[in-house]
Amino acid sequence: MRKNIVAGNWKMNKNLQEGIALAKDLNAALTADKPNCDVIICTPFIHLASVVPAVDASIIGVGAENCADKVSGAYTGEVSAEMVASTGAKYVILGHSERRAYYHETPEILKEKVQLALANGLTPIFCIGEVLEERQQGIQNQVVFDQLAGSLFDLSAEDFSKIVLAYEPVWAIGTGLTATPEQAEEIHAYIRSVIAEKFGAEVAENTSILYGGSCKPSNAKELFANPNVDGGLIGGAALKVEDFKGIIDAFK
Ligand code: 13P
Repeated sequence: MRKNIVAGNWKMNKNLQEGIALAKDLNAALTADKPNCDVIICTPFIHLASVVPAVDASIIGVGAENCADKVSGAYTGEVSAEMVASTGAKYVILGHSERRAYYHETPEILKEKVQLALANGLTPIFCIGEVLEERQQGIQNQVVFDQLAGSLFDLSAEDFSKIVLAYEPVWAIGTGLTATPEQAEEIHAYIRSVIAEKFGAEVAENTSILYGGSCKPSNAKELFANPNVDGGLIGGAALKVEDFKGIIDAFK
């Protein structure tokens, strides 16, 4: 059975002290009231080595928001998948629309990152999703197909089965606009059908596909109630324990 997951993406928020405090507060809240789903927090690189020991690994998994597309060497300012894994982090977000748009990450670059993450034992949380104009043109399925094909179709079924997907319509990220539960279910079902076609029905059935984009305690339950929506990737609402826990509690 595939896992239900609520993952936070802190983006470029919280200094080190604030990040440790947030992780500890979340850990205390979830220790007192255990979640019914997997919980992951993805933090800036510099937080990882401090956040990993600050949380109970049986309740909260920790991940990075990115990693390099190279193994090691003269790449000033980059952080490798091996370095991320050496902190005890278990996950890495790859292909976030902000990385694609602002840092020009192409499907080919993301393919390298995915392979390096897997080679270092990290679980990629791979993001896909269309921009507003693409949704308006009705080509969202083609867009997500191309994103999947461009970075993940070279993987073996065994490697693909280690990946978590996150569908994040770019028009819903940080805008307060959310995909309706029907829109989310429709495209999640399509994504699962693409996986089934390429990697087989069993792999598709076992792949967690998260929804991301203005997810909040007030809309999480109806989004997650859809059969093909297996949780959420949460931006803004992951920065406050009360909001993030409210979303986690949608699985209760
Ligand atoms: P918001 O929840 O702030 O819309 O961000 C979603 C997101 O981009 C998570 O990766």
